[in-house]
Amino acid sequence: MHREIIEPFRIKSVEALRFTTEEERGEILRRARHNPFLIDADDVLIDLLTDSGTSAMSANQWGAIMTGDESYAGSRSFRRFEAVVHDIFGFRHVIPTHQGRAAEKIVCTLLCGPGKAIPNNCHFDTTRANIEYKGAEAVDLVHDRARDPDDEHPFKGDVDLDRLAAFLKERGRDRVPFGMVTITNNAGGGQPVSMKNLRGVSRLLREHGVPFLIDACRFAENAWFIKTREPGYADRTPLEIAREMFSLADGATMSLKKDGFGNIGGFLALNDGALAERARNVLILTEGFPTYGGMAGRDMEALAVGMREALDERYLEYRVATVRFLAEHLTEQGIAVVRPPGGHAVYLDARRFYPQIPPLEYPAQALVCELYRKGGVRGVEIGSVMFGLHPDGTESPARQELVRLALPRRVYTQAHILYVAETLGEMYAERAGVRGLRIVRQSPYLRHFTAEFEPL
Ligand code: F0G
Repeated sequence: MHREIIEPFRIKSVEALRFTTEEERGEILRRARHNPFLIDADDVLIDLLTDSGTSAMSANQWGAIMTGDESYAGSRSFRRFEAVVHDIFGFRHVIPTHQGRAAEKIVCTLLCGPGKAIPNNCHFDTTRANIEYKGAEAVDLVHDRARDPDDEHPFKGDVDLDRLAAFLKERGRDRVPFGMVTITNNAGGGQPVSMKNLRGVSRLLREHGVPFLIDACRFAENAWFIKTREPGYADRTPLEIAREMFSLADGATMSLKKDGFGNIGGFLALNDGALAERARNVLILTEGFPTYGGMAGRDMEALAVGMREALDERYLEYRVATVRFLAEHLTEQGIAVVRPPGGHAVYLDARRFYPQIPPLEYPAQALVCELYRKGGVRGVEIGSVMFGLHPDGTESPARQELVRLALPRRVYTQAHILYVAETLGEMYAERAGVRGLRIVRQSPYLRHFTAEFEPL
């Protein structure tokens, strides 16, 4: 008999949702210049803007918070945090930062500059921005099959190894200060990367003497996909798989706001002692002393517990099932989503939702606005608003026009998810009349956060 995969927790503390009418939301949206990033969270019913920093902590994490050691130097909480990072990730040097982008910023400060290029499957927006800010080039080398939203390939986050080999040969070690792989591939649909592919990337980078850094934000979800999809891993634990993944790399940048169950936190981990020392020098300038970096002792305690909870099999089974549940309900209603569903989010294909809206009238932005107006649900545009503006000021359509519905960890129940699917079903039935938008104000970097729009 089929048994539902249930939320593997019960709820001890709740937060009331605030309901608004469709009319009120129309006004709120106008005030926010049609950019959901500018809406007050209190005006959002179900917030799927991000899975980052929005997780519900466990009772054990809250308990650990009370044991935080806030000493400036040599904090016991850092030692606990460091021990867990060593155990799971294995890298020799652990540099605590306030979130993932701070780790990226340190690496880019030290290693990027004009003429340099950093390959990745797909750079996430903060990584790309940090690289470009230093005048280097962020190059996406994800496998071609990732570009087809209907392709059911189990590891659509995989790097195209032939292109990586050609890239390394052409640019050479001096112009490629490090290579990256993002697990899971957030900008490419939350798709996992196989162990086989990580091994291939590792071999190529090592052959060229190029350090390999993993962007590890959603490492536990990636480990679960390897366990359930890659031959030979069914009997391995997520922890064993995680250790194997990181053994292939020379370091990692990590946002613990994802698979660390943290509301804040991150780290840079490195094997190279000389580079780690230089990184700590930058850390002291920008984040803090090396035994707290950008975090409070209590944060490090909560994260030390959270990183282990993220690798729990019952949790990971439920996590991936929740994303699949939403994707299947949308597919049943004829709504196109990136297949197969990824680890932390469902990605709607806005070009197919609103085929009448051209890319540079931002169909995915129109979709996030409608989703908010109709249901009070907040998602995020991952299309031409996020990726269309280039450092030289020119604009071109992004490869895809996606809307990401990211699921905060352990926050919403199955009924919330069903409500989202129903709202989108209604919107799909009424899709014909919807028009695009134009940008009336924007910033040169990461414009999607603050851009202001006007409906056409
Ligand atoms: N790398 C990836 C793959 C990410 O998804 C993020 C953040 C970062 C790096 C940066 O980490 O936020 O701690 O500085 N992603 C969030 C998101 C913001 O909504 O996907 P951070």
